[in-house]
Amino acid sequence: MPNAMHDPLRGRKLTEAKRLPMARGLGKTDRIDQWWKSPGAMAIYLGIMVAYATWRGFMEADFWFFSEFGYSAGSQTMYIEDKGSHVLSPLYSPLIIPGEGDIGALVPEFLIWLSPAMIILVVPAGFRGTCYYYRKAYYRSFFASPAACAVSTPFGDYNGERRLFVFQNVHRYFMYLAVAWLFILAYDVWLATQFHSDGSDGFGISVGTLVLALNVFLLTGYTLGCHSLRHMIGGIKNRFSGTTGKVAEGCWTACTGLNKHHNKWAIFSLFWVMFADFYVYMCTIGVWNDIVLIGGL
Ligand code: FES
Repeated sequence: MPNAMHDPLRGRKLTEAKRLPMARGLGKTDRIDQWWKSPGAMAIYLGIMVAYATWRGFMEADFWFFSEFGYSAGSQTMYIEDKGSHVLSPLYSPLIIPGEGDIGALVPEFLIWLSPAMIILVVPAGFRGTCYYYRKAYYRSFFASPAACAVSTPFGDYNGERRLFVFQNVHRYFMYLAVAWLFILAYDVWLATQFHSDGSDGFGISVGTLVLALNVFLLTGYTLGCHSLRHMIGGIKNRFSGTTGKVAEGCWTACTGLNKHHNKWAIFSLFWVMFADFYVYMCTIGVWNDIVLIGGL
């Protein structure tokens, strides 16, 4: 029997739409494959990444028991400098230490306990949290909305991102910041090649330098394949013509190439950001040694 449904995109009634005769209830489905594997694995992966970033973000905070270790206790874990190099963890870049330096002095007094990561992580977290790919991933993995195609949801039918979810449109603004971030992280790679000690300078490349460089490469692939960026570059044009049009077409084609594998860039770049921080952390506490491969002091 015809079932009237509301089309949220066009604001009109679809009189011919029909409900599928699928099983109803949390996780109920007629599927016989192992549909739960993908959202389950993603829930574990994202859960570990978020837990790790939170742990590291709090580690350098100056309050409660967090003041007993990390930067506040005088043994910073944000960057490696033991050989005159300067390998800064991407979780703490750009390094803004509350109360220190020109920028750190701008942090209000009542927020002085924040760690440098807490100050800047709002941008990468906001960028990834509103990313089209991650939205699909965590809607499925954490909210089961739906967990997979043809699997019933716990909150009624999926109706699109309406009402509160309109805030997800801020993604394009986070995208602007994320593009700017790439230049900051690339600058960190350059700094990691500049060794200093007691008045002597030297160029060098350590394992840490390469870890940071790969991080920039993966983040560039992820950021430049962004759906919002792709739309901004070419999606709003009806045709590419003239010299600027050809340039725009080239950018749009490159962006589209990255966009086709946006999920992979998203997953691998997230892992490598965390690994880069873990590498720095391990070196600062003496478990690993940042080996200088070329040059140095
Ligand atoms: S859509 Fe994923 S980063 Fe923009």
